[in-house]
Amino acid sequence: ASTSTAHQDLTGRTVLVTAGGTREPIDPVRFLGNRSSGRQGVAIAAAAHRRGATVTLIGAHLTVPTPPGIDLIPVTTAEQMHTAVLAHAPSSDIIIMAAAVADYRPIHVLPTKAKKDGTGLTHIELTANPDILADIATNRRRAGQLIVGFAAETGDDTGSVIEHGIAKAQRKGADLLAINEVGTHTGFGDVPNTITLVTNTGQVLDSISGTKDDVANHILNTVVHLLSTDG
Ligand code: CTP
Ligand code: CA
Repeated sequence: ASTSTAHQDLTGRTVLVTAGGTREPIDPVRFLGNRSSGRQGVAIAAAAHRRGATVTLIGAHLTVPTPPGIDLIPVTTAEQMHTAVLAHAPSSDIIIMAAAVADYRPIHVLPTKAKKDGTGLTHIELTANPDILADIATNRRRAGQLIVGFAAETGDDTGSVIEHGIAKAQRKGADLLAINEVGTHTGFGDVPNTITLVTNTGQVLDSISGTKDDVANHILNTVVHLLSTDG
């Protein structure tokens, strides 16, 4: 199989993967979250490990277990993920940001549980979270480092999935962006995936449909290829 131990093309490489969905607290029992299962990021971490890499996984509320041999750093919020990524980015050859990170968090976290009486919570004021990917892509600390982002996109009035993805690839500064079409029935959870790889100049490389393992190995194949051609 393509995932056999004969294919150790990431031996000697350090790989950092983010996965899962961050949670932003509202009060002691409530949070703003998203539907990410963490499966795609965990599949990437597992595939990189099988291919010989030393893998660190920064996981936010993963719904699947971390395979043996992978160093898991659990986090909850985007700010915690940011701190963990900044700590590990300088020692990582390859960074793959598969996590669904909350763009905003509540400005005030209530110290006690909000009640539904007249004093209850009807509005939540939000403030922007740090953009972790943009931060590490613009402040690179390691020569030759390869950074891959993910973009969960839906088509809308202002553009198609691919159009949004190409614009994001050019904006975010990651070397590669894996564009993933999401809806309530695709992309998240235990369903096959279609992803399209785009470079930071907006060049569309290729698309792959398959299981999250197929997608993981396809992304790693492209990463290995780019690292070998970059020198
Ligand atoms: N990301 C990040 N930090 C954030 C938000 C996103 O590191 N605060 C990363 C994600 O892990 C993903 C990539 O950026 O790899 C793209 O995330 P996405 O939500 O698709 O892009 P945004 O730039 O947040 O744009 P928007 O949500 O407006 O589409
Ligand atoms: Ca976002």
